[in-house]
Amino acid sequence: MIRFLNHIAIAVPDIQKAVTLYSDVFGLEVSEPKDMPDHGVTVAVAQLPNVQIELVAPLGDDSPVAKYLDKHPSGGLHHISFEVDDIKDLKTNLMDANHVPLGDGKPKEGMHETPTLFYNPKDFLGVLIEFEQKGLESQKPISPVKTNVSRHLSKQKEFREQGAHVKVFMEDWY
Ligand code: CO
Repeated sequence: MIRFLNHIAIAVPDIQKAVTLYSDVFGLEVSEPKDMPDHGVTVAVAQLPNVQIELVAPLGDDSPVAKYLDKHPSGGLHHISFEVDDIKDLKTNLMDANHVPLGDGKPKEGMHETPTLFYNPKDFLGVLIEFEQKGLESQKPISPVKTNVSRHLSKQKEFREQGAHVKVFMEDWY
């Protein structure tokens, strides 16, 4: 089951320019760019209450974003990532609908050190999609039979437990 949108990854040709745009112009909190040689990228993260924007620049010769930037030199939407309860269940469900993950089909440790799978954009309306299994704490299922009020309260509690500051956002949402 898909739980949340975790992040949107934007491929960028120049990480410093991207950070300046998101921090100085957009006014968001953006992390220092971090080299991730195992993943062939340099990443800076802009934090919003409900989602992260990952600014991803190529690192090294064999970067997964280099080919994308060849086609989109000024940058572009690289992928979106959903959090799921159980990556194996997700894979099984998608297999039942004839969707096969990229690579050898085994969940790999992603940039957030959680098991992840990627699916071909051709299968999903032209968007590269990552599914990411989060830690046990965020895997607690939300009961579908709760009233609106109790669901509202449990959402607040859930987000507090995650240490996120999304309570205000969720209050506006419901
Ligand atoms: Co990602």
